[in-house]
Formats: sequence, structure tokens, C-alpha cells
Amino acid sequence: DRRIKIAPSILSADFADFGRECRAIEDQGCDWVHVDVMDGHFVPNLTFGPAMCKAIRPHVRTVMDVHLMIAPVDPYIEAFADAGADILTAHVEAGPHIHRTLQAIRAAGVRPGIALNPGTPAEALRPVLDMVDLVCVMTVNPGFGGQKFIASQIEKVREIRAMIGDRPIHIEIDGGVTPETAPLVAAAGADVLVAGSAVFKGGSVADPAPYGANIAAI
Ligand code: DX5
Ligand code: ZN
Repeated sequence: DRRIKIAPSILSADFADFGRECRAIEDQGCDWVHVDVMDGHFVPNLTFGPAMCKAIRPHVRTVMDVHLMIAPVDPYIEAFADAGADILTAHVEAGPHIHRTLQAIRAAGVRPGIALNPGTPAEALRPVLDMVDLVCVMTVNPGFGGQKFIASQIEKVREIRAMIGDRPIHIEIDGGVTPETAPLVAAAGADVLVAGSAVFKGGSVADPAPYGANIAAI
């Protein structure tokens, strides 16, 4: 379905209380939970791995959307599948064998997604488009929350929407999504909006009420 879905990134949540944070954003009306996995190699930051995904799985009732900012990807697919990921998104830039990676994700029983960095053209997607359930368009350079939205990516979203046509493939936007930028990418054809800082700002695990207002504002 093409209804706009909000997927808060727990990169902006309280790292000491992920279980409660996941329950809080779902109670406050989010659609998916977005989990940013970083390896300090593909991107210049480190977060968490499959053990953390497995630990939060019981606290996620919606969709656990796992964004792998790691290289290589293939040695870890089994572990993230076992951790209960519903979607596993790999970067086209992460290695020379994205086709093999997407095949392996599907074979592991997980829905495959493909992510494109801001410097990567939409065309990179075309040869593997029919293998994926989701295309993630990075609207910041991956690695950190709270960065500024890169407006040049809006045209790329339009191109990808045209390429997808009627196929049931989600277009997800990741980076710098705010109440100001969300309408721009939705109009260009996106249907899943990842938002970290814009969702978690002003709230806390002790008082998550502002999360709901932030989600509604996007
Ligand atoms: C960036 C991550 C994003 C990030 C988004 O590397 O993939 O998911 O957390 O954060 P905001 O919404 O703060 O730009
Ligand atoms: Zn992400």
C-alpha cells in the first residue's frame, strides 16, 4: 500500500533503553521501526549488530526494518535473519556483488531492500530492481543522525518512482526528514519516511508523549 509510513530510526533513541523506546514509538503511532547498523568501515560510525536486533525483536510489534551500513554484508545475513529482521537493506556501494547479496537475503526468508548513497545514480538500481521489496534513497551521507537533507535527491526519487511503475516496491527516504522536507519526498513518490532526530526530539523514555506529536507533524 502506498499510504505514507513513518519509520523512526532508533539511532536517535536512548541507547540504554531500546526496548522501551521501541514500544514507545509504536504506542505513539509509528508504522515501522528502523534500525541503523554501522560498522565503522562502510560508514564512519559504529552502532550495533545482530545481537541487539534479536534483543529488541520482542519489543517490536510492527516491522523491524534493518538498514545495513556495513561491508561486507554477506557473512552477516544469516545472523540478521535469525535476529528476526523483516526487511534487510544492503547498500549497492557495499561491494561488487549486490545481486548475490540480494539473492542471499531473499533465500534467508527476509524481504530485501537496496540503498543508494546520495552520489549514486538511480540507474545503479535498474539491473536488480525486480529482486527488491524496497529502495532506500539516502538523503544524507550515511553515518550520523541529525544531518541536513540533500535536496538534489528529490529528482532521483522521481526517477526511481517512474522506474518502479506499478511494481509493489516501497521507496524509503532516509536522512533529514522533517515536517518541511517530508511533503517534498512524498510528492516525488516516496511512501516510507525514516526519521530519527525529528521523531525523538523533545521526548524521553520517561515521557515519550512528544514522539507522537512529532510523528503526526511529519
Ligand atoms: C543515517 C541513518 C539514518 C539516520 C536518520 O546514516 O541511516 O537512518 O538515523 O536520522 P535523521 O532523521 O536525524 O536524519
Ligand atoms: Zn537508516
